Amino acid sequence: MASYDGLVSTFLWAIFVVQAIEFGHSNASTNVSCIGAEREALLKFKHGLTDPLKRLSSWTGEECCNWGGVKCDKKIGHILQLDLRNPCAEDANAEDANVDISAPSDKCKLGGNIVPSLGELKYLEFLDLSINNFSTRKFPTFFASLQKLEYLYLSGNLISGSIPSSLGELSSLRGLDLSYNKVSGTIPESIGRLSNLRELHFEKNLLYGTVSELHFENLKNLIMLDISSNELILNVSSTWVPPFQALEIDLSDCKVGPEFPRWLQTQRNLTNLIMSNASMSGDIRDWLYDISSNIDFLDISVNMLRGQIPQDIGDKMPRLTTLRLWGNNLTGGIPSSLCKLKQLDEINLSKNQLSGRLPRCWKASQNLEWFFLEDNKLNGQIPKSLCHLQLLMGLSLQRNGFSGVIPNCLSSLQFMMILDLSDNQFTGRLPPFGKHSQSLVVLNLEKNHLVGGIPPQLCQLRDIQVLSLAQNNITGPIPNCFIFSGGIGRAWPLITGLDVMVNTKGTSQIYGNGLAYFFSIDLSANMLDGQIPEEFTRLLQLENLNLSQNNLSGHIPSNIGDLKNLESLDLSKNELSSAIPSGISSMDFLSHLNLSFNRLSGRIPSGNHLRTVDDESVYRGNDGLCGAPLSKICPGDQPAGTGGDASSGDKPSEGDVDIHNWFYAGLGPGFTVGFLGFCSILHFKRSWRVSYFRAMDGAIEKFSMTTMIAMLWFKRTFRQSE
Ligand SMILES: *[C@@H]1O[C@H](CO)[C@@H](O)[C@H](O)[C@H]1NC(C)=O
Ligand SMILES: *[C@@H]1O[C@H](CO)[C@@H](O)[C@H](O)[C@H]1NC(C)=O
Ligand SMILES: *[C@@H]1O[C@H](CO)[C@@H](O)[C@H](O)[C@H]1NC(C)=O
Ligand SMILES: *[C@@H]1O[C@H](CO)[C@@H](O)[C@H](O)[C@H]1NC(C)=O
Ligand SMILES: *[C@@H]1O[C@H](CO)[C@@H](O)[C@H](O)[C@H]1NC(C)=O
Ligand SMILES: *[C@@H]1O[C@H](CO)[C@@H](O)[C@H](O)[C@H]1NC(C)=O
Ligand SMILES: *[C@@H]1O[C@H](CO)[C@@H](O)[C@H](O)[C@H]1NC(C)=O
Ligand SMILES: *[C@@H]1O[C@H](CO)[C@@H](O)[C@H](O)[C@H]1NC(C)=O
Ligand SMILES: *[C@@H]1O[C@H](CO)[C@@H](O)[C@H](O)[C@H]1NC(C)=O
Ligand SMILES: *[C@@H]1O[C@H](CO)[C@@H](O)[C@H](O)[C@H]1NC(C)=O
Ligand SMILES: *[C@@H]1O[C@H](CO)[C@@H](O)[C@H](O)[C@H]1NC(C)=O
Ligand SMILES: *[C@@H]1O[C@H](CO)[C@@H](O)[C@H](O)[C@H]1NC(C)=O
Repeated sequence: MASYDGLVSTFLWAIFVVQAIEFGHSNASTNVSCIGAEREALLKFKHGLTDPLKRLSSWTGEECCNWGGVKCDKKIGHILQLDLRNPCAEDANAEDANVDISAPSDKCKLGGNIVPSLGELKYLEFLDLSINNFSTRKFPTFFASLQKLEYLYLSGNLISGSIPSSLGELSSLRGLDLSYNKVSGTIPESIGRLSNLRELHFEKNLLYGTVSELHFENLKNLIMLDISSNELILNVSSTWVPPFQALEIDLSDCKVGPEFPRWLQTQRNLTNLIMSNASMSGDIRDWLYDISSNIDFLDISVNMLRGQIPQDIGDKMPRLTTLRLWGNNLTGGIPSSLCKLKQLDEINLSKNQLSGRLPRCWKASQNLEWFFLEDNKLNGQIPKSLCHLQLLMGLSLQRNGFSGVIPNCLSSLQFMMILDLSDNQFTGRLPPFGKHSQSLVVLNLEKNHLVGGIPPQLCQLRDIQVLSLAQNNITGPIPNCFIFSGGIGRAWPLITGLDVMVNTKGTSQIYGNGLAYFFSIDLSANMLDGQIPEEFTRLLQLENLNLSQNNLSGHIPSNIGDLKNLESLDLSKNELSSAIPSGISSMDFLSHLNLSFNRLSGRIPSGNHLRTVDDESVYRGNDGLCGAPLSKICPGDQPAGTGGDASSGDKPSEGDVDIHNWFYAGLGPGFTVGFLGFCSILHFKRSWRVSYFRAMDGAIEKFSMTTMIAMLWFKRTFRQSE
């Protein structure tokens, strides 16, 4: 592990250096005079802009060729390049937790209009305004006067209006990226005249209407086509032969089907094909053979494809790294030829009608990281050979018919973060998840027939956030070590609602600001006995604690779910500054508590202020409990209505409060350092904003995922050494 960490640091450093070189502006040969009219054009452009970070502070004086982001021709002095891409969008990838999670690049955004004065830069070859806050009500038409323009990158702004036909006059254009804007209307056919165009990115806009053969008429150099996430219909004839040989095609959310697009057979160089939610039907075997054997990334999920996955898919597509066929109507078994694919790192066959057993041929030489099979009709045991997949980070088998004992070796997969085997027929004891499965964040084994006790090793799961063993036959006490290994209480929040975008330069940016603190322990409907461990009261971010339907006895710990926790979090907010979004104070901790149907006794603590406190169903079915919200009055109490809050014995003591504060003071740094990298990777794979991966080409995806994974380890090391 140590040498691996070294490697990771080197890797991160390398990224940094590469980026520094790439984005630094060299001063060599700055001895040119800039053209006055072009300088005026830039100043006019700058004039209306908001620039909170003073990115354009160098834009003063005569020598505009030295201005930040500007590059001139050495001989004639004309401006050739204007690169105002958001520099903080790079940081989001390679830099650390010091970024604002909600929108890391917001602070560096330039805002305002894209004024027509830029049309004066007649020699401009490269214009990049990506990931800023430029807004236009109409799509600027002056671009058409930039006749030498080769690259126009406007991705990630607020550009609206429809694409002007005149854009088709930019005959030198090689890269056009309008993705992640609010561009509407139909795509003009004139785009099909851009015979030098190599990359076309229109994804994530509000485009609609039909895309026909005319739109591609002259695009003989196109290698990358992405028009996904609009409302487009692709209407080409069944005999169409595209003029291009694309490497990557993304037509997700476009209406392509119902027939298989025959023209794909002509794309012999295709490595990435993404056509999820493209209204395609028919038998998958009829056409899977016809697409390029160079294919690396294949995503045809969420269609209406039926039939069996070809048995020899692993032979026909030897370079496959990602296989997503989920959300179709596929039948039959999982081909064992998948075991031959050493580079395959993700398989998602969820939500189909697949049946039979898992192949047993898994080998240590494989690099599979994510294996999703939920919602099928698979059965049989989990083969032990699955544990040969040492890099596995996610395995989801929920809602199938698997049975037998869960192999113990699953608990020694050190990178496993998400393991969901819920809703099957598994029997036997829980594997000893713990020291050797330190990466586990989600462990869901509910709705099986597991027996035996909760293994004490579980206390060693440092990062666990969601644990469910509900609806099994688990016996014995709840180990009271739960948090003090640094476990649940120290874990990090999950980021949800993130959206990541990538442009053609291959750097990604994190958007969105939904943060959810997501914690759950569900041990309900088992046969656990003993007392509720006092430690549960220190699980500060616990949202859901369900101990219902067990055989627990004793008193309810007095300050469980106490709002004091929230106050201590507010305290620590200062330390964490930008890492914690303002919404956090409105969160409900322990908003779902359920202790019903046990053998608990004594007074229900009144020190908490939970939303659930008034719900008697939380405490129902415990004969010995008394006090509000149950109607049973505790011995010695006055009837309800008077002095309900006077039960001083149940208030947390000063000492408890101090412990909370101290606890949080310690939590701060680890929390800040840990959660971006770790949780974003988790998020990406958990709820998988499809758009994230759709927007990426294969090489970029590999890069980003590797970066993320590197960050994860890097940060952990960092945290540990702290
Ligand atoms: C680059 O040019 C700027 C302004 O002309 C100057 O301030 C800076 O020192 C120069 N840097 C180098 C490395 O020459
Ligand atoms: C740079 O400009 C100065 C005058 O401003 C001139 O004397 C010198 O020759 C120029 N150097 C080059 C390399 O063009
Ligand atoms: C972007 O511009 C819009 C108005 O056009 C404004 O409401 C928003 O706050 C700006 N966002 C940032 C991050 O500057
Ligand atoms: C598709 O194109 C054909 C021939 O150009 C045309 O007849 C048909 O109406 C088009 N369909 C749609 C949905 O645009
Ligand atoms: C499928 O694509 C349509 C647009 O064509 C979109 O409205 C819909 O939300 C998409 N469905 C999914 C599941 O992404
Ligand atoms: C496609 O592959 C052929 C060889 O199979 C190669 O000559 C050609 O350059 C490739 N085209 C592109 C756009 O990569
Ligand atoms: C899936 O296939 C089965 C039979 O093969 C059929 O009954 C069912 O309607 C199909 N479901 C969908 C959503 O097409
Ligand atoms: C895998 O399949 C599930 C559907 O069961 C889906 O929700 C998830 O987004 C898929 N993951 C990826 C990465 O496509
Ligand atoms: C638990 O064990 C009892 C008795 O052996 C059995 O009747 C019940 O079905 C089991 N429950 C589960 C969820 O396996
Ligand atoms: C708690 O568990 C019981 C039994 O498994 C279930 O019926 C109930 O919905 C759960 N409540 C919560 C809040 O999760
Ligand atoms: C619950 O625990 C008591 C002893 O604490 C025991 O007598 C009883 O049998 C247990 N009930 C079940 C259902 O296990
Ligand atoms: C608690 O769990 C019981 C089942 O054990 C369920 O009936 C009740 O609705 C749950 N209460 C809450 C608030 O979830």
